[in-house]
Amino acid sequence: MLESLEKMAADPILGLTAAYNQDQNPNKVDLGAGVYKDENGNTPVFAAIKNAETVWQQEETTKAYIAQSGFADFNSSMIKHIFGESHAAVKNERLKSVMAPGGSGSLRVGAEMLNRANEGAALWVSTPTWGNHIPLLGSTGLQIQEYPYYDSDTHGLLFDAMMESLKNAGRGDIVLLHGCCHNPTGVDLSKTQWDAVADLAQQNGFLPFVDTAYHGLGEGLEEDSYGIRKMADSVDEMLIAYSCSKNFGLYRERTGAIIVLGKNTEAAEASSSHITNIARQMYSLPPAYGAALVKIILQDAKLYQNWKLELDEMRERINGLRVTFADALNERGAGTDFSFIKNQYGMFSFLGISKEQIQRLRDEYSIYLVGSSRINVAGISQKNIAYLSDAIVSVL
Ligand code: LMR
Repeated sequence: MLESLEKMAADPILGLTAAYNQDQNPNKVDLGAGVYKDENGNTPVFAAIKNAETVWQQEETTKAYIAQSGFADFNSSMIKHIFGESHAAVKNERLKSVMAPGGSGSLRVGAEMLNRANEGAALWVSTPTWGNHIPLLGSTGLQIQEYPYYDSDTHGLLFDAMMESLKNAGRGDIVLLHGCCHNPTGVDLSKTQWDAVADLAQQNGFLPFVDTAYHGLGEGLEEDSYGIRKMADSVDEMLIAYSCSKNFGLYRERTGAIIVLGKNTEAAEASSSHITNIARQMYSLPPAYGAALVKIILQDAKLYQNWKLELDEMRERINGLRVTFADALNERGAGTDFSFIKNQYGMFSFLGISKEQIQRLRDEYSIYLVGSSRINVAGISQKNIAYLSDAIVSVL
């Protein structure tokens, strides 16, 4: 039977990591998958996570199954962490969180639930969006529609075109938004633009589905929460897929949450009961370990402060690299003005170079980036910046 299956091509993002790891060139540079790296190219374990691991070793008394929605204190802490204690949706108990395997698992079970609620509903995604959004969400049965987002001429947002397009999204439709640090463009909505999208969601009745995988890596934890909080002020129903992979450095632990905002407590509970039922059919229960560490950090003021300082340092390093890198390219007379990289947020930006140029960077210089020309800014360091900038300018 299985001979009918042909070997598939490597994943366009994760496959790059595998190829990079096999590359013997000592000068190789990994700008592929969205994984934070320090100045030495390592992806460190947060010190706060190491401390939480020590605490958990003492606290954990059993490996018996956890509840279907995960740890109750993870879920309640996560809601407060994202919304703050005083948000009306928190006070009115309209939010329900379910632990899920990372951001991708959260997106998937959320989308499956939406497809149960309205089979074959339109799911609007930005053009472009994360390379795995369409396969991951479209394979649930939801029908993908696209709205304009990135302007490759100005390297900014096509906001008017986006709004014009979203006027066609109505009740029963879902609109996927990136909470912050848009993947792959690094172009985020301003506060006033969030306000306008929230107004439109309220008027048209579409359901916002906010993917939040880089919370705290854009402008800061509070600033990066603006869109989610504003949206929750404006609409009756929404979903948030939250990943702890990047901002807690828990990539391999598959830690995340799918959070439902309902019209009221009963509605949120009903939707989340479908999520746990769907998870039961797919993988039964979420992984516990990473979530145990996150809940320890979120519940301990000192650990939380330490974690936040580590996150601040990562964000500042990325934002600093954006400036240094754009300047390095511009100083070399790249022909294109790369200053736009300085104005974007999170790990990613598009270089805006061709497929052939991307291939040359890989073949001639062992520099790995996604085929869309997306780079992971965190993969740049003081050690590789001259090599990288020279190589890019040479292929332009
Ligand atoms: C990325 O976009 O590189 C990350 O979200 C990793 C992944 O799973 O694709």
